[in-house]
Amino acid sequence: MTAAIAPLTARPAWQALKAHHQQIREVHLQQLFADDPQRGERLTLEAAGLYLDYSKNRITDETVKLLLQLARESGLGERIDAMFRGEKINVTEKRAVLHVALRTPQGASIVVDGENVVPQVHAVLAKMAEFAQRIRRGDWRGHTGKPIKNVINIGIGGSDLGPVMAYEALKHYSERALTFRFVSNIDGTDFAEAVRDLDPGETLFIISSKTFTTLETMTNAHTARDWFLAGLGGEVKAVARHFVAVSTNTEKVREFGIDTANMFEFWDWVGGRYSLDSAIGLSTMLAIGPDNFQAMLSGFHQMDEHFRTAPFEANLPVLLGLLGLWYNDFFGAQTVAVLPYEQYLKRFPAYLQQLTMESNGKQVTLEGTAVDYQTGPIYWGEPGTNGQHSFYQLIHQGTRLIPCDFIAFAQPLNPLGRHHDMLLANVLAQTEALAFGKAPEQVQAEGTPDWLAPHRVFLGNRPSNTILAARLTPETLGKLVALYEHSVFTQGTIWGINSFDQWGVELGKALAQRIIPELESREEPRLAHDSSTNALIRRYRRLKGAP
Ligand code: F6P
Repeated sequence: MTAAIAPLTARPAWQALKAHHQQIREVHLQQLFADDPQRGERLTLEAAGLYLDYSKNRITDETVKLLLQLARESGLGERIDAMFRGEKINVTEKRAVLHVALRTPQGASIVVDGENVVPQVHAVLAKMAEFAQRIRRGDWRGHTGKPIKNVINIGIGGSDLGPVMAYEALKHYSERALTFRFVSNIDGTDFAEAVRDLDPGETLFIISSKTFTTLETMTNAHTARDWFLAGLGGEVKAVARHFVAVSTNTEKVREFGIDTANMFEFWDWVGGRYSLDSAIGLSTMLAIGPDNFQAMLSGFHQMDEHFRTAPFEANLPVLLGLLGLWYNDFFGAQTVAVLPYEQYLKRFPAYLQQLTMESNGKQVTLEGTAVDYQTGPIYWGEPGTNGQHSFYQLIHQGTRLIPCDFIAFAQPLNPLGRHHDMLLANVLAQTEALAFGKAPEQVQAEGTPDWLAPHRVFLGNRPSNTILAARLTPETLGKLVALYEHSVFTQGTIWGINSFDQWGVELGKALAQRIIPELESREEPRLAHDSSTNALIRRYRRLKGAP
């Protein structure tokens, strides 16, 4: 960011938004809709086949104007260009941020350190496609001559959440003759349950790790190797037919014992949480095939191009990011609920949690000074309609403001009688109920006794976005993920933080390395933690029956 940009809270648009918020904070959505009969059609935006209705937000035209001004005053345009040009905008790790290169069509040029990375991206995609076809056709044989029937991705964070989310989201398009499982947790149960009914001779492990040093992934990978070798009579040379790696770290892959011919590469300019469309998506490609994977990349690219070129007022990720920022920084909202009305998107909220919270959960600016405003909100959610019978009560009648993103599709992937119309009726009803509520007069007019009436009142004025698309396809999924990626970027830029590092995960990792030997030691360890941690370690050792 250039030095000319004022601190966030000193920018004219920020100041104006603060004053504007004072005027608008009590205005009810009922009023806003009554004042403008066209609001529900006017405050909408369509891009790359995704339709966003943002009319049920607590905003006026003035709010949008000021938010757009804030984006401009924050240098968003320059920052978008810098990312797409391959500048090292991840300053704390001195890296370019080029997930957009992963979906750039052949023939384009994006230069990092003097080298065009686009041909490298396509070379890896071609290698993935060739491998995927061999597995899917049964041409790739395991050590005992059997075709591969089971694929287990071992990874964590971005090397797990993207693959598992995409697999679940696109299961409808997947090769059902193959079984896919995902092991991430260092809790041994994760691995044990994943393999308990599998034949090692028919199983392929994809060890997915950008660094190939992550404790959980390397522990699970070694356990997988032991399980596999135990099943195949200890034949070490069998490993080559059953273990492949996805990583940036060739040395470590070789050290583990995986033939680097079976390594699928990606690069340090791909952040873990932005990597599902890199080789980290190998399990996705195995499941849905290279053509569908290509369609997903095309969806990503369409949204990238929209983000890069559309004016801010017609830019879907910019608008989504600004609306989130409005509630986060001016209304004091602490969370955002993401509510997909699509069963296949059941892991989408979990995926978004890493994307949004690892990216924008930051306390200092790019220059290292403490922020004096709120940064990334908490993201959470569950697919509808299940959430309706659980936590929606709090969203409707609780004391907190929880902006919601509803996501729905017009065409069901599994048409079954009236199910889909009923599903969609629910999503529309929820946004209507949240916005407009149910007034005391209405409750009374229904004959509700006075003592009960207050409990049955819905105050409304609870904001939501509705994202509607025709159908959940690989292409649509790419667009949806890119929409959120760029909305996170928009917010991170305005907050002036680095959305691409994750130093906050380091301390716990380092402390765990110190505690592991204390838990494993045969001798009573000399402990030098605080009294709580010391006591917990001692109790754990006693309970597990340590010597
Ligand atoms: O949790 C921290 C983190 O570095 C994530 O950013 C990353 O996605 C995950 O760990 C896994 O890292 P790797 O792919 O290097 O194993």
